[in-house]
Amino acid sequence: MQKEIFEQPVALANTLEMLGTAHSIQPGLFGAASEEVLRDVKQVLIIACGTSYHAGLVARYWLESIAGIPCSVEVASEYRYRDSVPDPQTLVVTISQSGETADTLAALQHAKSLGMARTLCICNVPESSLVRENTLRFITRAGPEIGVASTKAFTTQLAALYLLTLVLAKLRSRLSEQAEVAELHALRHLPVAVSKILELEPEIRDWSERFSMKQHALFLGRGRHYPIAMEGALKLKEISYIHAEAYPAGELKHGPLALVDRDMPVIAVAPNDALIEKLKSNLQEVRARGGELYVFADAGSEIPESEGVHILH
Ligand code: M6R
Repeated sequence: MQKEIFEQPVALANTLEMLGTAHSIQPGLFGAASEEVLRDVKQVLIIACGTSYHAGLVARYWLESIAGIPCSVEVASEYRYRDSVPDPQTLVVTISQSGETADTLAALQHAKSLGMARTLCICNVPESSLVRENTLRFITRAGPEIGVASTKAFTTQLAALYLLTLVLAKLRSRLSEQAEVAELHALRHLPVAVSKILELEPEIRDWSERFSMKQHALFLGRGRHYPIAMEGALKLKEISYIHAEAYPAGELKHGPLALVDRDMPVIAVAPNDALIEKLKSNLQEVRARGGELYVFADAGSEIPESEGVHILH
């Protein structure tokens, strides 16, 4: 797993390689029939499990705010068994590292049986069952993921979903030429940005040592960073056997705050975005109850380090 975490910059660079040096993004990235399939979709339905589901939850924020397209995200094992209302103009997006997850495959079959034929998958294994079952596909190039915890597959799924967002935004005339160039520039910078974050390993190791004796942990985020908090909690449970929950930070006061005390470390994802001031007031609620905070911030977040408040930029 450690090795795969450190392969993220290369995995991202390989996944984004197909952009080449182009100054514009082409729907063809998702397959020959992309433009025809994507042009008049009315909404997006994302179906996946586990980590792949979390990637879908992040993408919902992008698809709605950047491409202006309604999006819902479903856990495959729920979607396949529930009665839902199909719409043939929905783009059904399945996400899977392996392409062999039984619930995801069955949920896709279920969607198709309801008459939803516009299908696209994001998958890391080109020869998998899922790839064969979809009209459009994007193959992430994370390389084999052997560790049980999904790491580099997740980040490459996010890159693919961001590309899908840009393609849909472009087809819906919501992406100016200038914005397109800027987005492509930022995407090409991603591998370098991720490498910088991996340099924080010694500090993160220090943090983990303090966590190792804890029984529980709470992860908080707002907006598109709430699913990132969910993914953090999943990783801690799966790998450290420490009970962890994730909450949208604004929900804290509606119940879970009661659990916060000095034995409950609280991890927050706190980038300097439109919700940072709201998040800061949630973090104060945690401190008021004696909770110890571990905050992933960025330089502009302006959260000072103090007793009980640990910051990584
Ligand atoms: O291969 P898939 O992406 O379809 O797998 C789905 C989940 O089982 C998977 O993402 C799981 O949650 C992760 N390995 C957890 O780290």
